[in-house]
Amino acid sequence: MSEIYVLALSVVFSLIVVKLCHWVYQWSNPKCKGKLPPGSMGFPIIGETFEFMTPFDISLVVSPYLKKRISRYGSKVFRTSLFGAKVIVSIDPDVNMEIAKASSQLRATESVTRIFGENNPFLQSKEIHKYVRNLTSRFVGPEGLKTRLIHDIDNLLRNDVENGARNGSFDVREATIKMVGELIAKKIMGETESEAVKELGLCWSAFRTSWFQFSYNIPGTTVYRLVKARRKAAKLLKALILKKKASKEGLGDFLDIIFDEMEKDGTALDIDKAVNLIFVFFILSQETTPGVQGAVVKLVADHPSVMEELQREHEAIVQNRADKDTGVTWEEYKSMTFTHMVIKESLRFTSTQPTVHRIPDQDVQIGDYTLPAGWLFFGIPQVHFDEEKYDDPLTFNPWRWQGKDINSTVSREYMPFGAGGTHCVGSEFAKLIIAILLHHLSRFRWSLDPKTEVLRRYTLVFPAGCVVHISKESE
Ligand code: HEM
Repeated sequence: MSEIYVLALSVVFSLIVVKLCHWVYQWSNPKCKGKLPPGSMGFPIIGETFEFMTPFDISLVVSPYLKKRISRYGSKVFRTSLFGAKVIVSIDPDVNMEIAKASSQLRATESVTRIFGENNPFLQSKEIHKYVRNLTSRFVGPEGLKTRLIHDIDNLLRNDVENGARNGSFDVREATIKMVGELIAKKIMGETESEAVKELGLCWSAFRTSWFQFSYNIPGTTVYRLVKARRKAAKLLKALILKKKASKEGLGDFLDIIFDEMEKDGTALDIDKAVNLIFVFFILSQETTPGVQGAVVKLVADHPSVMEELQREHEAIVQNRADKDTGVTWEEYKSMTFTHMVIKESLRFTSTQPTVHRIPDQDVQIGDYTLPAGWLFFGIPQVHFDEEKYDDPLTFNPWRWQGKDINSTVSREYMPFGAGGTHCVGSEFAKLIIAILLHHLSRFRWSLDPKTEVLRRYTLVFPAGCVVHISKESE
């Protein structure tokens, strides 16, 4: 009896081992109808995620992860596994643009999809996606910025910088996060002080961690915590919106637009989509722009000639103002030529993460290789550091944009905001925030705390904060 038992056990064990080996083999050698790009799928489940996510200093523009693979495979396109997904990484600008244009639907890893909600309008059908893009553009596109937002952004940032000058220092990244939070609370809810808005603030703060995680929604994991925070934020937002809708009092501009839309016949917008839209808007503004803002300040602080030129430009703007107490006008913003050159160069210099995310529904042929349906595509704008496209590309040099188109945000050689049908809808909003902060900083003497370190990960990371020492005495 016991012999049969041992035999049965060893058969079961052998079967498990064979199954496991088969699974590991299949993991390492994924199949597709065509030819996969070279690469390695790394360890089962983990793939190459940890190496991909290892932070490195901003001065190192090419990630050690990427450098190793480019030289190992001799190809600008390779396969890997990241965050539990099968991924094709491309640093080829033509391929990136082709894929960006071929598929107009933004796609992300399962963990990001979970965090943002499966019913997120930005991740839904083409029609709904197009519709919410247009709606968002009405709020943060040039017209909305000019007529609705510039004045508030200017007031909030001027206060932050002046308070900083009174106290001797302030954290630029934190101030930008706070400013965006206040601006959106005001523009969406029409208020910044209610208990619900404060509670929402606590939910948002849960998101100040990397969203790029493995996708397991198990208690104790970051994804679990973020999904819980999203659900709570959605519930609070929904209650707040319904209350506002019933009272019709104190609406912010954004809610005004949304209610208008919801009242139209056959609209694609319902209350849940509206909640999700506001949620995406808030999270994306808080996660992206403050980090880039911190990096811009670091790059300017490390290049005194850039700081001097900025100071000259902004002093002239203030000098030419008839009334010194009025805020930055749209015309002044448009006239900040050097500032726009600094922002354009900073975005070139800081973009080393993927900016084109897609999952094709059908196999796509890229040269000799196949991008299989269902695989995640990560297009990295490594072209920003290509010597054939940029002179001395590893140097931060805003003057390289002199006489060039400083306003455009997308071309084959320049893709900090992605490309195609999902090109960043908040790009103009982000640029305006950065320009106005530089304007107010340039009115003072300032320096960056020497401890400040900017690391590139998926997003930009500031382990020691981003503190500016600033004195009231202007230049
Ligand atoms: C400097 C700051 C920012 C950077 C570098 C940035 C970068 C990007 C990139 C690369 C994409 C395209 C992703 C893809 O196609 O795979 C994107 C899309 C998007 N961004 Fe931004 N972004 C910034 C600021 C903002 C802000 C402030 C908002 C808030 C309004 C925002 C909202 C969005 C939305 C909603 C999308 C998805 C668009 C769509 O699916 O059609 N972004 N962003």
